[in-house]
Formats: sequence, C-alpha cells, structure tokens
Amino acid sequence: MAAPTAADFVPDTTDLDELAASAQGCKGCDLYLDATQAVFGAGSAEAEMVLVGEQPGDQEDKAGAPFVGPAGRLLDRALVAAGIERDRLYVTNAVKHFKFTLPERGKRRIHKKPSRTEVVACRPWLIQELMALQPDVVVLMGATAAQSLLGSTFRLTAHRREALSLPRGADTDILDFDPRVTVTVHPSSVLRGPPTEREKAFDALVSDLRFAAGLLPQTDR
Ligand code: URA
Ligand code: SF4
Repeated sequence: MAAPTAADFVPDTTDLDELAASAQGCKGCDLYLDATQAVFGAGSAEAEMVLVGEQPGDQEDKAGAPFVGPAGRLLDRALVAAGIERDRLYVTNAVKHFKFTLPERGKRRIHKKPSRTEVVACRPWLIQELMALQPDVVVLMGATAAQSLLGSTFRLTAHRREALSLPRGADTDILDFDPRVTVTVHPSSVLRGPPTEREKAFDALVSDLRFAAGLLPQTDR
C-alpha cells in the first residue's frame, strides 16, 4: 500500500473554513501524533497574495494560528516596511503540524525541520488552499516552502526577486490558474543571523516582499 498523504484527508471543497476543520483530522504523516493541533492558514479569503512558511512553531502550535510567535512578529514588521497590509494576505505553512524535539523534560520544545516525506505528504493541503484562494502572487519563504512547490533541488538564494511559475507536477496539476511565484528567506533566518548582519537581512526580506507586491495587478494597488 502506498504511504498515506494528506490527499486521503483533503475534502473536495474550496471553503477555507471547511478545509481548516478537516485538517484537524489529518493523519497524512506522523506529525499529528505529538503536535497540539493542526495549524491551518489564516487570512482573507479574498487575498491576492499568499505567503508560505515552513511549519508552525511552538507558539503557533499552542495558539492554533500561523506566524504569531517571534518569526511572525518579524514578518509583521517586514510587511509594514514593505507597505503590504496583512489583511490583503493569506499566510500559511508548507507543513501544518509542529515538528519538534524535547531535549529534557520541562524544557522548551525545539523546532525540527520537516523531512521531504512530510513536506510532500502535507502538500495537498497547501495546493487546496491555493485552489480556494486563486491568488495572483505566492511568496515562498525559506527552503522548505520553496522546495515543496518548486522541487527538492530548488535553491532559493539563486532566485530571489525573480517572477517564477509553478511547475506542473503530480499535485500541482489540479491548479487551473497560473500565479506568479517568488521566493525569499524564512523570517526566522533573519532572527538567527549574526547581530551585525540582521539589519541587512531584514532589508533584503523587505525588498523581496516589495518585489512580490509589485507583481500584483496594477488595479489592486
Ligand atoms: N515559522 C513558520 O514557518 N511558520 C509559522 O507559522 C511560524 C514560524
Ligand atoms: Fe497531515 Fe500535514 Fe499534519 Fe502530516 S503534517 S498529519 S500531512 S496535516
């Protein structure tokens, strides 16, 4: 039998609330076992731009909402600096359950990068979110998000501030529209960098977001 994926759990609907509710029952990979809950995307159903991160962090896992912890606060600041209103956006992740290690009892849970298998298993949720939203622009933040939709060998550093298209493949075949796709670093990489580099990294993230907003249809700006 083929390994399970989220495809076995994604309902045939473009109603975002229904999708979010269904994700709570997903057993498409093992990450649902230890996480508190699935953290589905959030934002306007009319969003023109979708931002995709990696997976929920510790705070997102508890709150049940994406980008509400430190990376989310940094992203909020970058969006303000880029002149993008968060209510024109929908924000989600490549993987919907928090993956972590627990170094010692009582210690803070440490984020662990999802495997390729988990990213591929979870991709049907992301594709269905895109189906529901039909955004003009999709911004993939960090290698996990970029490789989920652009392939496992995609190197994002070589393609910042480029307008890309989604390649057609097993999962993306159902998409009947053609959004512009851009890539940028993950907001948490700005926080992790050496303090002397942080301002530069932040400014580059803002430039990438501004570039992405520039791809929106003129009439929408
Ligand atoms: N990092 C992510 O990739 N997503 C979140 O929702 C939070 C932190
Ligand atoms: Fe399903 Fe994705 Fe959670 Fe795995 S991470 S159980 S595929 S929602």
